[in-house]
Amino acid sequence: MPAPQQLKDEALFRTACLVGGDWIEADDGSTISVDDPATGDEIATVPSLGPVEVRRAIEVAAVAQRDWRRVTARERARVLHRWADLLTEHRDDVGLIMGTEHGKPWEEAKGEVDYAASFLEWFAEEAGRANGDVVPTFRSDSRVIVLREPVGVAAGITPWNFPAAMIGRKVGPALAVGCAMVVKPASQTPLTALALAELGRRAGVPDGVFNVVTGKAGPIGEELTSNPSVRKLSFTGSTEVGRTLMAQCAHHIMKVSLELGGNAPFIVFDDADLDAAVEGTLVAKFRNSGQTCIAANRILVHERVVDDYVDRLTKAVSGLEVGATTDPGAKIGPLIDDAAVDKVARHVEDAVGHGAEVVLGGSANERGGRFWDPTVLVGVKADTAMSCEETFGPVAGIDTFRDDEQAVRQANETPYGLASYVYSRDIGRLWRAVEGLEYGMVGANTGFISSPVAPFGGVKESGLGREGSVHGIDEYTELKYVCLGGLDR
Ligand code: SIN
Repeated sequence: MPAPQQLKDEALFRTACLVGGDWIEADDGSTISVDDPATGDEIATVPSLGPVEVRRAIEVAAVAQRDWRRVTARERARVLHRWADLLTEHRDDVGLIMGTEHGKPWEEAKGEVDYAASFLEWFAEEAGRANGDVVPTFRSDSRVIVLREPVGVAAGITPWNFPAAMIGRKVGPALAVGCAMVVKPASQTPLTALALAELGRRAGVPDGVFNVVTGKAGPIGEELTSNPSVRKLSFTGSTEVGRTLMAQCAHHIMKVSLELGGNAPFIVFDDADLDAAVEGTLVAKFRNSGQTCIAANRILVHERVVDDYVDRLTKAVSGLEVGATTDPGAKIGPLIDDAAVDKVARHVEDAVGHGAEVVLGGSANERGGRFWDPTVLVGVKADTAMSCEETFGPVAGIDTFRDDEQAVRQANETPYGLASYVYSRDIGRLWRAVEGLEYGMVGANTGFISSPVAPFGGVKESGLGREGSVHGIDEYTELKYVCLGGLDR
């Protein structure tokens, strides 16, 4: 565990919730345990807040928001810039806290801190551009003005797979436009959120504008979605939970954005640059040990090049070292919990039972615990569990196709529509596939698509709304149309 004394700045290791500028415990003292997925050992406990404390957090956020929305955009931007700078300055400490509760390899943990900071920076810069409109009028005695106003208090429910970046992606736009936020981090990774909260406080985020509530998802989610002072919910997580939250938000007709599950196809045409496709597969499949919503889940390779692709991929994947965050050279960390290991094992077993062949890995790593060997499987059929559900582990399942249309059709045969990938050297072929893919995002000749400048989000059962980019601002603002009349009198 990262004993606080291993950190350069011990005060970043926070185990209480930040509400209204105070570090609070649960009224009844109850806690939840946070463990290190590499060892299963408890790292810390954090408060298990109930609806009463969450209601208090919402109330203080509502009060703080009234002042925050009146602060100039430039000043809000300065605060976000300072927050981003502090994150960068404390990259190692936040990376260590995150790596220990999540298990991601050291370089990825530090990279995620930078990724989180990049959202704060991007939206700091957008703060001054969150414009309304003045529209040519429909009456000579009136003017048509459109104001863009903050929604009010926004709730963010964030996942364990990117404990810092998914907060940055939500809090950046929210604070930039003058909303206050109550964030409920995943129970597996609350310590990163609390470290971020400490840095936000130091950056000058006013008390009550950013609050973190930890504890059990059910009761906290219920309060966040039923309290009429919360005007917006942004959730990243599974489709199943997203559906429940959306139904709960329906009661108050709350503004909702959802970034949900995916089942990304990764198509390799027979004219593709295979080295580039392999490099893209390493990112799209093995980044974060396969635990991303945009992970390549179904790799579809033209039958003419499949052997060559598999040879090259296997060589590359066999070089991925398995280890804990602090193991130098580790590229694949432990899976988040025992349920994640069980799911990966079930998917591999099911694929093999349906005729897939294990080319590499295929079983738990010799270290035991939650470590799984990077795996390459060929002959993974479309009707296997691996092809129908997100595997969320370091397992590349490969199937073949004969013609382009068949590949795109097969890629679309899923209720999900988050990310997709396609490789070809022929721009016409590539573009036809891009247009045919029913997904919110397409990596065309690349496996790396994540950036604060791009609209991140899905279609179908993968979600609603977009995060990042100029469009990310829309999710935290409402338009108010003002008709200013009586001007000719
Ligand atoms: C996710 O898996 O939901 C986020 C991935 C990313 O932002 O790159």
